[in-house]
Amino acid sequence: MASYLLLGKEMQEKPTINLGLEGVYFSESRIAMIDGINGRLYYCGYSIASLAENSTYEETCYLILHGRLPTSEELEKFSAMMKSFRDLPDGIIRLIKEMARNTVPMDTLRTAISALPAYQSNKYENPEEENFAESVNIISKSASIIAAIERFRNGQDYIKPNASLGHAANFLYMLKGSPPDEKHSKILDVMMILHAEHGSNASTFTSIAAASTLSDLYSAITAGISALKGPLHGGADEAALRMLYAIGKPENTAKYIDDALSGKKRIMGFGHRIYKTYDPRARIIKKYLEELENDANGEVRKLAKIEMEAEKIMIDKLGKQKGIWPNVDFFSGPVYISLGISKEIFTPLFAASRSVGWCAHVIEYWKNNRLIRPLDYYTGSIDLEYLPISERR
Ligand code: ACO
Repeated sequence: MASYLLLGKEMQEKPTINLGLEGVYFSESRIAMIDGINGRLYYCGYSIASLAENSTYEETCYLILHGRLPTSEELEKFSAMMKSFRDLPDGIIRLIKEMARNTVPMDTLRTAISALPAYQSNKYENPEEENFAESVNIISKSASIIAAIERFRNGQDYIKPNASLGHAANFLYMLKGSPPDEKHSKILDVMMILHAEHGSNASTFTSIAAASTLSDLYSAITAGISALKGPLHGGADEAALRMLYAIGKPENTAKYIDDALSGKKRIMGFGHRIYKTYDPRARIIKKYLEELENDANGEVRKLAKIEMEAEKIMIDKLGKQKGIWPNVDFFSGPVYISLGISKEIFTPLFAASRSVGWCAHVIEYWKNNRLIRPLDYYTGSIDLEYLPISERR
């Protein structure tokens, strides 16, 4: 085997390569604890089930950013700050309008977030205050940006935020222009809590890697959005719904799955790098879907039936055998559809909900920053003779 110079040493043996950084720890964190064997997830010590049951998205954001639950006074102040950041500057509205008709919503969201610093005039006392304010600005505005994208996509106008509503309810209001149904607002609030944070997944790691160069928060979050877009990560929610439509009716499910698996295709919304059991978030979303099924329109009921069938077949075929279980993206689609949210903005909404996790991780990492610079093992040639172009074949 060839030997190459590595960090000043002659390397004789090929190093162990952890493809996809699987199983590699790169930092310590106090934000999320994920138990992939027993299907448990905690944000700052609180189980996802108890937060979904008792908390609100605003309170969960405070928890993730500060590491503890707020007092009522602190929550009031934090919620007021979120509200104060909701409205979009005219330049961002124009940018969204320009992009929305011909660009997928994730691209418009990514571009709009990266343009936000152009409209930030506030001066902050210290970096901590600045990081916190920028985080709240991103969390708050990302939802408004998505509502604006969807309205412009449909030839409608921007709707200004409503300060009497909580974050999730205001998003629905800015999306539809009418006072949102209380039950719908509650369900969306829970969906946002469930998507708020998830350790050092691909998009969070990407945000941290960008931030580790001491770049800025907006750039880091823009990088996170880029990573979330792919169908192996956040893009799976839309892909899973498209799959349900492709299946069409419950009786087609078994054949669809058989054909896909024998063609070595992935069933979207199943499998996870960490969870080798049922994703605890999927359990909670499934419970909401079952409740919705009882009062939902025919479309949601039909989609839910296909999902229940697909879940049964997949668990039978791959659950115990390969640890492939439903993940957070599997049941989300029909829930969003029942709230009147179209599939094109599922992943942007995931990004908006996750923005708090990205910000919190970046700020945490900066406290003990080290440039992220892993190695790749070079397998090409060296010392090749440079031939003039006229002599190359
Ligand atoms: N459908 C069918 N087979 C699957 C699936 C799936 N969804 N997921 C994994 N497998 C199979 C693989 O084909 C592989 O089989 P093999 O050992 O016979 O080759 C085995 O399970 C292990 O798969 P890996 O790709 O090694 O698992 P990895 O940890 O890299 O994958 C991932 C995780 C990317 C999420 C994968 O399960 C997948 O592609 N799922 C579908 C997309 C999806 O739902 N993504 C959302 C994840 S949650 C989130 O990011 C928010």
